[in-house]
Amino acid sequence: MLKYFTSGESHGEALVAFLSGLPAGLEVSLNFVNHELWRRQQGYGRGGRMKIERDTARLLSGVRHGKTIASPIAVLIENRDWKNWQEQLPVESGDPELHKRVASPRPGHADLAGALKYNFPEARYVLERASARETTARVAMGALAKLLLRELGIEVLSHVVAVGGARVRHEVPWEQIVASCAREEVLLNCADSEAEAQMKAEVDKVLRTGDSVGGVFEVVAHNVPPGLGTYAQWDERLDAQLAAAIMSLQAVKAVELGAGVTAAYSPGSAVHDEIGYEGGSGFTQFSRAHNNAGGIEGGVSNGQEVRIRGYLKPISTLRRPLQSVDFATRKPVKAAYERSDVCVVPAAGVAGEAMVALTLARSVLEKFGGDSMTETCRNFHGYLEQLKKF
Ligand SMILES: Cc1cc2nc3c(=O)[nH]c(=O)nc-3n(C[C@H](O)[C@H](O)[C@H](O)COP(=O)(O)O)c2cc1C
Repeated sequence: MLKYFTSGESHGEALVAFLSGLPAGLEVSLNFVNHELWRRQQGYGRGGRMKIERDTARLLSGVRHGKTIASPIAVLIENRDWKNWQEQLPVESGDPELHKRVASPRPGHADLAGALKYNFPEARYVLERASARETTARVAMGALAKLLLRELGIEVLSHVVAVGGARVRHEVPWEQIVASCAREEVLLNCADSEAEAQMKAEVDKVLRTGDSVGGVFEVVAHNVPPGLGTYAQWDERLDAQLAAAIMSLQAVKAVELGAGVTAAYSPGSAVHDEIGYEGGSGFTQFSRAHNNAGGIEGGVSNGQEVRIRGYLKPISTLRRPLQSVDFATRKPVKAAYERSDVCVVPAAGVAGEAMVALTLARSVLEKFGGDSMTETCRNFHGYLEQLKKF
């Protein structure tokens, strides 16, 4: 069973990720993990923080001589900004005069709900953990999950479908997503250059006006065999697990599988992917006319690409802050402002990839098991043979 969790505060010393359950003998490339971290930091509309941080992972345990050894893996990513926060956010009590309060809760953040829940007089501790800086740890673990999936031929990437009102209206083929993700200069990770220019204009507009913008990313898992997940129990459905994984990302407010949203407004004849029997997905000869289902039917992967979208609300921190109330005086004030991104859709896509990779890796290990990569791969390929003979 693949288990994972993260620890760390936005301005604390470091983020730590724990991942256990990977089979022994999986080759781990630290360069790959760091490249994934770099990808999470890119995108037009990021704030000053990303200029300070250049995230690099330290593997503390579970990997020796370049391979997993089946013990839990701990990954540490330092916060370079910590040097500026040691007195404001010390582990010991420190000097209260130097602590940095978040005096008024920011609408759209966890500030007020978190302070009420944990009985904090102000929102500093809430902000520190609710912040999406935490996705750095998820991306590090997701990179390890991607390495496992890669051994089985499964790849996971993302692209940006919308920023504000600018959007791509057609399905983007896998090869174009690969090309977009391979770019060394990341603007908005949109595979359509015309739409990308319009997206940049959306970001420029909010940069000018002190506002913020949201959007939509799509994560695509390529070469996923049929048979992951099950309709047999509600919580074992792959669509449910993926939706939870994407929805767990900060600022994601809706999730769509395949053409899910437009499907709700369309007749069945225009939605369901007709079945044929030639030139199939590669796993079998069964073919589909299109992929409106997003690669999952009845909670089970069907051999098509898994396509899942995350819808992001606009960033909550505004340079021209919204109305709020001072925690101490209860008087109306403008919400606290702290350095912020104005658009994070490409970065959220990279975090989405991590969540999809972790979810698929867990599903793969549940189906195929294996304490070593030799065993996992043998079981996996035995199943592929079974599919070919179906
Ligand atoms: C990659 C990423 C980076 C983010 N950066 C910021 C940011 O700089 N400023 C901000 O106000 N919100 C940012 N957010 C969104 C907030 O973390 C999020 O809206 C907030 O924690 C409240 O959680 P909720 O939107 O899920 O309710 C970011 C989200 C993601 C996915």
